[in-house]
Amino acid sequence: MMLYHDVVSMFPCTSLVSRSFHRQVDQMMFWTASSRNLTCFAPITNAMQMQQRLLSSFSGGGSKKKVLAGSKKKRTQSSTKWTQRHEKDPYVKRARAQGSPSRAIFKLEELEIMATSFMKQKMKKKRSRNDGNKSQQIRTDFFLPQSTVLDLGAAPGGWTKYVAEKRLNSNGGLLISVDLLQLDDRTVMAIERDADAPDFHFIQGDFTTDGIKTEILDLLSMSNRNGVQVIISDMAENFSGDSLTDALKTLNLCEDALMLAAGSSCFDEQYVSGSNREEDGILKHGGTFLCKYFACGQENEKDLKEAINRHFEFSTSLKPKASRKESAELFLFASGYRGNKSM
Ligand SMILES: C[S@@+](CC[C@H](N)C(=O)[O-])C[C@H]1O[C@@H](n2cnc3c(N)ncnc32)[C@H](O)[C@@H]1O
Repeated sequence: MMLYHDVVSMFPCTSLVSRSFHRQVDQMMFWTASSRNLTCFAPITNAMQMQQRLLSSFSGGGSKKKVLAGSKKKRTQSSTKWTQRHEKDPYVKRARAQGSPSRAIFKLEELEIMATSFMKQKMKKKRSRNDGNKSQQIRTDFFLPQSTVLDLGAAPGGWTKYVAEKRLNSNGGLLISVDLLQLDDRTVMAIERDADAPDFHFIQGDFTTDGIKTEILDLLSMSNRNGVQVIISDMAENFSGDSLTDALKTLNLCEDALMLAAGSSCFDEQYVSGSNREEDGILKHGGTFLCKYFACGQENEKDLKEAINRHFEFSTSLKPKASRKESAELFLFASGYRGNKSM
């Protein structure tokens, strides 16, 4: 059986293969969905048929029937273990007690504290290097009450709940949440009933598709915004059972999120944000970006970090306590976006 990383390792520049491969996979998405309608379509071009053959070889498809994640018995045992661990998890218990749709809310809460302390340290160093030059002010707060925030991979809604109820206010705050899946109904109703909550919109669909990107841009322009101050992504696809495949897929979502933030050329090493070149990213100058990834030591991870270093003043990887120790899950935090100076 050929796995995704087997194919990727056959190419000298793995990150490029991965990106272009996924880009083409994106193009063959069989459906797009929005909060109002669901459209199905099946592209039937030769290129896509080729991609489908490739995809089935990655997932163990093709002429011989393959099982990726072990026997049914093994999977049943591991899902029972997962349920037992989940039920004992103190963060799950806390989330239930406070009516939060997921334990992820505690990760964001911690990430905000960690990121703020990281920024304070960086600013302190920067100030001492600049001999107290006050013009070098960069914000250290993760969220400001009147910011515009884009929450990618929002369902069931832990991060959305945290940002809407605790971080933005009704006086200028705007929160746009996007996910393939629906948000938890009670969370949405609570935000809608809360007079102090920011202007809130949920878009259901794949954020990498042009349709959903257009919906995001339309919402921004209807709200008289030309960009967003903060992009947070907790996106991950359903786990396949192969940790490297899952890590690469999640990195690919991070790459897409970064391209939405910093523009489609942001992985081009020659391109520097803030140059005179026209930019098509939606992150405002000085803005903040956070994305979840799984450490795997592959070229894609290095590429993502390098791109982030080129486009942001500060960046670091963070591991909150609420993220399980045994998981390779990490969060890349970046602040002080160098591009979109005119926004
Ligand atoms: C770990 S969950 C997010 C949990 C959420 N942050 C919370 O606090 O409840 C990951 C989410 O990413 C979403 N996702 C994965 N790929 C996506 C895509 N291309 N576009 C939009 N959402 C996506 C999944 O549907 C899933 O709901």
